[in-house]
Amino acid sequence: MNNNTILVVDDEPLSVKILCHLLKNDYSVVVATSGEEALEIARSDASPDLILMDVIMPGKTGYDVCSELKRDPQTDGIPVILVTGLSEESDEKRGLDLGAVDYIQKPFSPSLVRARIRNQLELKKYRNHLEMLVVERTTELQLKQQQLAELNRELENRVAEEVNNSRKKDALLIHQDKLASVGYLAAGVAHEINNPMGFIMSNLKTLLNFTNTLQQYMDALHHSASDEQRAQTAELYADLDVPYIREELPILIAETLEGAERVKSIVLDLKDFACPGKDFMDETDLNRSVQRAANLYQSELSPIAQIELHLGDIPAVECNAQQINLVIANLLMNAAEAIDDHGTITITTHCEGDFVHIDVSDTGHGIADDIREHIFDPFFTTKDVGKGAGLGLSICYGIIKKHGGDIILDSQPGRGTTFTVKVPVNGII
Ligand SMILES: Nc1ncnc2c1ncn2[C@@H]1O[C@H](COP(=O)(O)OP(=O)(O)OP(=O)(O)O)[C@@H](O)[C@H]1O
Ligand SMILES: [Mg+2]
Repeated sequence: MNNNTILVVDDEPLSVKILCHLLKNDYSVVVATSGEEALEIARSDASPDLILMDVIMPGKTGYDVCSELKRDPQTDGIPVILVTGLSEESDEKRGLDLGAVDYIQKPFSPSLVRARIRNQLELKKYRNHLEMLVVERTTELQLKQQQLAELNRELENRVAEEVNNSRKKDALLIHQDKLASVGYLAAGVAHEINNPMGFIMSNLKTLLNFTNTLQQYMDALHHSASDEQRAQTAELYADLDVPYIREELPILIAETLEGAERVKSIVLDLKDFACPGKDFMDETDLNRSVQRAANLYQSELSPIAQIELHLGDIPAVECNAQQINLVIANLLMNAAEAIDDHGTITITTHCEGDFVHIDVSDTGHGIADDIREHIFDPFFTTKDVGKGAGLGLSICYGIIKKHGGDIILDSQPGRGTTFTVKVPVNGII
């Protein structure tokens, strides 16, 4: 005997008796004598593994019970075999349509009933096994999905972290490059300031001497009461060369003021160019940026190159002025470094469509074909070790791309190079 339970449902005591007799050696048999009782047992904790049920019964018929069992998810898995005296094909079809798994006609052969029950229980076993497999696989899949989602989240976090780190590195590189270019600039500016400061100092010393001399003459004038004293004072006037001093004084003062003005304007240019005091997008006159760069670098670069400007009629550009100044400074320095003896650097500005173009051209040695595709790479340099980081152009490229613009290279080895910087008039960052 296996441990399957068969529920026999029939209102005919004789039929029940026969079926019980037939099955009792192989199964546990439970009996219900009405459809209502059968439903109650099927829904209880001791639900059967299979139901063998008569069709025609008072109250709920076998068809009614069958369809109610199939509607309830708790009982729809119990196979139902209808056993009846009805012999029409339509009766059989109705039972099968309502969810019965098989149909046995009375009078039945015992071995046929046993075989059909065995088959249905086998099928049920396989179905249960399959369902269990599906549940297992679904659970496994869900677990894998969860793990994947977790991995995904981890990956996203890592990417975000990397992006953040690389942004920080970019900012650091720009900062370092800015410092380097300001250092370079400082040398030029020091020279530029030294010159006027030299003659301001010398003029001030002369002015001090003149003041002492005039003081001496005025003292003498103050004490010239007698004729003799007046004669001495007149002599002193000639000896001290007072007329010369009177003539020179306004010239010296004007020259000194002019020198001071020059120092002031250099300092202003430096302040505006190197640290405009803001690190965000603003309407910027790029012609002024170019002009300031030329003012500041001209004296330092003058032994190498003459800077010529052709500034066109361009609109104000929405950009980060501090960063664009850095680009101009880097291109100017590269241009100067490419000139072997003495040459010209020409900066041209003009507007094309929605972009302002700044062309920085030099008459230097140009860029060989085989390195052109590398010059914007970070750390690519043709300078000797320790002379350059090879970061200038990659930083320029990053800045201009961030503005939604572009840098285009045109170079003829042996003749010179032009870098064209295109900046959108209405910036995008
Ligand atoms: N105007 C130019 N003419 C010829 N070669 C150039 C010019 N501008 C750049 N290059 C080439 O591109 C290389 C990379 O330039 P980049 O400004 O990125 O670095 P670098 O000038 O070598 O070093 P750094 O700018 O960090 O001091 C240079 O080493 C040089 O070979
Ligand atoms: Mg450089």
